[in-house]
Order: sequence, then structure tokens, then C-alpha cells
Amino acid sequence: MQSDTKIIKKHFQKSIDKYADNADAQKYTADILIKELPVTDFDNILEIGAGAGILTYFAANTLKWNNYYANDLVEKSEIFVKKYIKDTKFFAGDFRKIKFNKKFDLIISNAVFQWFENTDKILDKCKNLLTKDGLLAFSTFTPDNFKEIRELTGLSLNYKSADDIKNVIEKDFDLISIKSSEFIMNFDNPLKILAHMKNTGVNSLTETHWGIKEVKNFCDKYSEKFPDLTLTYSPIIVVAKIK
Ligand SMILES: C[S@@+](CC[C@H](N)C(=O)[O-])C[C@H]1O[C@@H](n2cnc3c(N)ncnc32)[C@H](O)[C@@H]1O
Repeated sequence: MQSDTKIIKKHFQKSIDKYADNADAQKYTADILIKELPVTDFDNILEIGAGAGILTYFAANTLKWNNYYANDLVEKSEIFVKKYIKDTKFFAGDFRKIKFNKKFDLIISNAVFQWFENTDKILDKCKNLLTKDGLLAFSTFTPDNFKEIRELTGLSLNYKSADDIKNVIEKDFDLISIKSSEFIMNFDNPLKILAHMKNTGVNSLTETHWGIKEVKNFCDKYSEKFPDLTLTYSPIIVVAKIK
């Protein structure tokens, strides 16, 4: 299924203050993404979907730039981003709709592209925003992401496989690196899994409100099917250079 932008915004708006304390998988991918970049010195950097500034933090510690630009659907993201890079120029709104009147030599994005239904269109937009030799680095997730949740509830985004991502990327970009991995979290009770999903905004898959009965049913089924109370993230991190 694909999610509605208004729902995504509402959920991330609610979770943004608690996000960084809960987003271990996103810290893991942000760290790799920055380390995989072949150079660290840039003129203009654009970060898409900066959220609570996890990737901004890693970028601030490693990269050099003349101008840092960041975007997110949620306006409050600007405050988080500016904690790490205070002169960031921030664009609030849906990345797909924003008209930028300049080009960037690096576009980065951590754990955002899975929310875009049409990867081709996003890559096309990135391509048009990059300078000659510009770099694009992003992390997203592959179909086994939250396999436990999908198995129990049937809810999942339309994650692209690593091969699909590679195929679309290679139309306009030369791959520099592509890394898939698994990041497994363990919890001591299923309620904490629900809280984790809420605090990281990833409950944006549905607007359906769960009552006590649904929550109990979910917890019972989770403990029965996945007694180790694992939650699996399956990230993929891509670094590519425009052809
Ligand atoms: C999982 S969070 C990742 C946040 C941050 N990049 C990080 O490193 O943790 C996804 C972010 O993407 C943003 N987002 C989702 N759809 C977007 C869109 N269409 N345009 C801009 N931002 C979007 C959300 O508001 C949220 O802050």
C-alpha cells in the first residue's frame, strides 16, 4: 500500500520530538551513508526529508560545504536541522512539489524514499537538480522491512527490491556503492514495539485507530509468532554519480 502525504505529515509531526531517541536504525544508515561518500567537500548540499536531523548531524560532523539546504514536509524539522547546521536554508513542504532555482553537487536523504510511490520520478527530479558530476546518496528499505508487522497485520509499504532500485538508478546514474543489510531490534514486550513505531512515525501506514482489543490481539499474536520480539529493518544505502 502507499500512504497519503497528509497522514505521513501528521504522524511525523507528532513523533518528531521523540524521533531521535528511538531511531537506532536510521542512525545506523545515516552513518554508513556519509561514510560511503567518495568525497567530503561540496559547494551546495541538499538534504531531502531531514526530519529530526539525524543525517544532518552525521553530515555536519564529516562534510564541508558552502551552502546547506534542507527540506521536510514538517515545518518543525527546521529547528532540528539548525541545531547542527545553523545557517541551513530550509524548504518546508513536499519535496516533489518544491521548485528549486538552483543546482546541488550533493543530494542526500536518509530513510525517506520509501514514502515516495514513484522512485523513477524522484530520481528524475534529483537528476535535474544535480550539477555535472553531482552525487546522490540515499537510504531506503527493501521488502523484508518490518516483515513481522507485515506478517501479522498485512500492512506494508510497496518497498522496492535491491534489484529494482539498482535498475532504476542505473538509467541515469553510475553506481558508486550499494549496500543492503539487516538491522534487527529486540524488545522486551510487544507494546514497546508499537511505541517504537509510533515514536519513529512509521505507523503512518494507516489512520485506523486501534482499541484495547486490537492492541491485545496484536501483542498476543506477536509474542506467539515472534517470541524473541524482534523487529527487522532491511535498509539499503545507495551512492551514485550522475551520468
Ligand atoms: C523516517 S523519517 C527520516 C528523517 C531523517 N532523514 C533521518 O535521518 O532520520 C522520514 C522523513 O521524511 C519526511 N517526508 C516524508 N515524505 C516527504 C515528502 N514528500 N517531502 C519531504 N519530506 C518528506 C517526513 O516528514 C520525515 O521527517
